[in-house]
Amino acid sequence: MCGIVGYMGSQDAVPVIMNGLKMLEYRGYDSAGICTMDSGDVEIRRSPGKLVNLERLLKEQPMRGTIGIGHTRWATHGKPTVANAHPHKGGSVVVVHNGIIENYLALKDELSEQGHIFISETDSEVISHLIDEKMDSTGSFEEAVQQALKMIQGAYALCILSKKDDKTLIVAKSGSPMVIGIKGNEYFIASDMPAIISNTREMIIMEDGEMAVFRNGGVKFSTIYGVEIAKEPRYIDWSPLKAEKNGYPNFMLKEIHEQPQAIKNVVAGRLLEDEGNVFLEELHLNDEELRSFERLCFVACGTSWHAALMGKYLIEEYCRIPVDVEIASEFRYRDPLVSGKTLVIPISQSGETADTLAALREAKNKNAHIVSICNVIDSSIARESDGVIYTRAGLEIGVASTKAFTTQLVALYLLTIRLGRANGSIDLKKGQEMIAALSELPAMVEKTLELDLQIEEIACEYLTSWDAIYLGRGISFPIALEGALKLKEISYIHADGYPAGEMKHGPIALIDRDMPVFILAPNDRHLVKVRSNMEEVITRGGKVVALCSEGDFETGKRADFTLHIPWAGEALSPVLFAVALQLLAYNFAILKGKDVDQPRNLAKSVTVE
Ligand code: F6R
Repeated sequence: MCGIVGYMGSQDAVPVIMNGLKMLEYRGYDSAGICTMDSGDVEIRRSPGKLVNLERLLKEQPMRGTIGIGHTRWATHGKPTVANAHPHKGGSVVVVHNGIIENYLALKDELSEQGHIFISETDSEVISHLIDEKMDSTGSFEEAVQQALKMIQGAYALCILSKKDDKTLIVAKSGSPMVIGIKGNEYFIASDMPAIISNTREMIIMEDGEMAVFRNGGVKFSTIYGVEIAKEPRYIDWSPLKAEKNGYPNFMLKEIHEQPQAIKNVVAGRLLEDEGNVFLEELHLNDEELRSFERLCFVACGTSWHAALMGKYLIEEYCRIPVDVEIASEFRYRDPLVSGKTLVIPISQSGETADTLAALREAKNKNAHIVSICNVIDSSIARESDGVIYTRAGLEIGVASTKAFTTQLVALYLLTIRLGRANGSIDLKKGQEMIAALSELPAMVEKTLELDLQIEEIACEYLTSWDAIYLGRGISFPIALEGALKLKEISYIHADGYPAGEMKHGPIALIDRDMPVFILAPNDRHLVKVRSNMEEVITRGGKVVALCSEGDFETGKRADFTLHIPWAGEALSPVLFAVALQLLAYNFAILKGKDVDQPRNLAKSVTVE
């Protein structure tokens, strides 16, 4: 999930690459590095930590050249040190790599015996040494890369330079994304389009097993077996979104506050009020085709998996279709039971999550129809799906997902209406009601955001807690999981979400006066049961924060704190509870002085499995 940028052309490569890397920092910020080639001189600068450290280093030690490669790292093998930062150099060869080389230890042993000296703990360094070794035997950079790639097991997107062939840049891909932007004789290479789209809109998307050789202002495409192939650029017509904080102290808060508009965007042009239906042409499925699916299967990771869980509650309840919710990294390895009668729905903000993409491919191999729910336009998952429902949340920079999550929930609500209307389980009146409920939602999100001061007070009260529990029942359970994940990832407080009824089967042992328990108690059919669960906590001396619906003055009476969340009906209220829990995690993290946009150890786009 590292970010890669490469450049070959007539400009100074460093600013082009650094601008690209800035757009990719969400892929990892453990370290960054850059290499340029200038008349046979190879210069490398690497720095641990965020990109700003590399920028500083480049000011002190500038470098030049019109060919270059750069990298921003999310550490897998080896700590985030200078030695482990990319680019890696083995003999004459320099590489930047995204992915994981699974057989690197065996290759490293072999190469060490041949006299290669390794200075990093990474899997990636082995690639440079291996290509260098092959160059000695073949005398050709291109052939050396081909031979090396045949020996490598695992996933890679690579940009490769060699001092011995100083007018050439080679790119190869298998399993990790890579795109090439073309502008005349200039070539912009990146792991994601946003890194280079400000330079050109003519893009070539590399497929697995392909490589590109840039030389003398031209490019040649082939398979890694040397079979030449023709590839045509496509014109990318979407505009790069600017990452601006617009007066907010950080991106996370800005993105939390963008949710009313993001929700308006996800429904815009999709509601058919009179028909009590939604217009989701992008599914490419008519009513009869929608009815033909025996089951649905969501595949996703992290926050998107929580959205999928909520989707299960909605679709089973309103459409009466069986739904499985799969963690993508598990699904892909267990010969899943899907067929042509299964509608498989990958959910992904980035559209690049390696496990979700692999799960999609696994399902496709089994003839499943794939409709994804994605935020990033033209991402790998979007491109490889038969249909895509875009969530239109806009650019999400904060590593902790906020507006991407709530727009996923709304997209799932739209899909529910579409499926239910197609199979008749949602009638005209119900469909109209469900659509009408949506119109109030953005204003209710605004109202929920006004709870910020009360939420800050709660965060102050429990700031020294080491642990927290989130409880919810029914459709609130996925939101409890999401609330706990938000808290963990940005404030580093350990938190777990449970179905409220499950607490007495174990987690209740943890309850004491130092443990805040956040109880999601919307005014739905589970309220009475949730109140009992709350009593169980209070009886054991636990600290309770009750998140109730507006107008409910009963539930929170014995709680330590009560938050009143607007009531948007059973199916949409979870969106509002999610917003309140985002603010809660945010306040904890800010009060603790944490970097909410780039929490430690995380990356926005997880392109390694
Ligand atoms: C948490 C978070 C992650 C992502 C997960 C999947 O705030 O953002 O858990 O949800 O890495 O990412 P996408 O949705 O891009 O597939």
